[in-house]
Amino acid sequence: MLSEPNVQTALNGICPYFTMFPLDFPFGILKKQAKKGDHVLDPFCGRGTTNFAARLLGLSSLGVDSSPVAAAVTASKLVSTNVEEIMAEVRHILNARESCDVPSSEFWRLAYHHEVLDALCRLREAFLADCSTAARIALRGIILGALHGPKQKTFQSYFSNQCPRTYAPKPAYATRFWRKRGLMPEQVDVLAIIERRARRYFGTLPDADGTARLADSRKRESLLPTSSDERFDWVITSPPYYGMRTYIPDQWLRNWFLGGSDVVDYTIRNQIAHSNTGDFAADLRQVWRNAAAVSSGDAKLVVRFGGIADRQANPLDLLENSFANSGWRVFAIRDAGSAVEGKRQATTFLRSDTKPMAEYDFWALKDDGSRH
Ligand SMILES: C[S@@+](CC[C@H](N)C(=O)[O-])C[C@H]1O[C@@H](n2cnc3c(N)ncnc32)[C@H](O)[C@@H]1O
Repeated sequence: MLSEPNVQTALNGICPYFTMFPLDFPFGILKKQAKKGDHVLDPFCGRGTTNFAARLLGLSSLGVDSSPVAAAVTASKLVSTNVEEIMAEVRHILNARESCDVPSSEFWRLAYHHEVLDALCRLREAFLADCSTAARIALRGIILGALHGPKQKTFQSYFSNQCPRTYAPKPAYATRFWRKRGLMPEQVDVLAIIERRARRYFGTLPDADGTARLADSRKRESLLPTSSDERFDWVITSPPYYGMRTYIPDQWLRNWFLGGSDVVDYTIRNQIAHSNTGDFAADLRQVWRNAAAVSSGDAKLVVRFGGIADRQANPLDLLENSFANSGWRVFAIRDAGSAVEGKRQATTFLRSDTKPMAEYDFWALKDDGSRH
């Protein structure tokens, strides 16, 4: 059993993300069962919960996701830097750069005070030119987390006009909402918001090798370890639930900050197919196979999976089907409780018309063909 480090876990909350699982889930498994020197993989890393758990325990990890927001948030949880470096970087960027590409539609004029938007555009362009240092990766994660959210009564914590924090509002709806209520964007103090967040998230944390990769896990090369002699001992993950395919459009503002369009882009690229249950299971199977190819002989795969009630598909059947000929043999399926009992995976994306279904944890071992 790995010992529990006496460190803060606040960094895991740097940016909200749909359908995240609780930190306790991967942390509990790794703390109890992983050995020193184990390598950890999450092929659907989302906001990087598994990778952050691995880091806390001093284990190296790779997180892969095809959403630019997920990859950027995960990367920010794996760097080692501090408040001073982050603040020096933001001051440097804001003093040095003139923004040239500032969106100007009514949505943008109502979403951000023009001086705040100007600062955000300068930061955006600086990161597009270079986001390779630990301080920049951390700063980018902080800004993604602060990009939109509710107005606070005491001190401002978000850059935007009144907004949800978990997903970005659609422009037409948001514009009507703000107009009807006479809500204008405030000239918030960008540096103060960043500094407060940097202090909250970037305290002392253990160092561990960690990589966040923006890639499609259905492609074999996407899951290759960073060093050729490395094999993964643990795969802990949660794929999208069948029917949840709007990760990128629902994060369109954060995606814009990472270089995406300044209007909502509904194209769904590099995401698991949700066209029918057969295609969905086949895509997942491909990812399990790719993971098996880069895992050690006694590796374990743990998958949390559930459903959303507006898709009439049994999550147990779906996932079991995806494991057929996948290179993994399921040895246990555990009930992880319903999505509304406690802080579960689906809770954050439930809209009023979407009822949760039960969640399950699937445990599998590498199937070398000899265990039948
Ligand atoms: C349920 S979420 C993972 C949440 C994660 N466990 C967490 O705690 O944040 C599923 C993720 O799978 C990603 N995804 C979907 N299709 C993918 C693909 N083909 N390759 C890589 N990632 C994909 C989505 O972008 C989404 O971030």
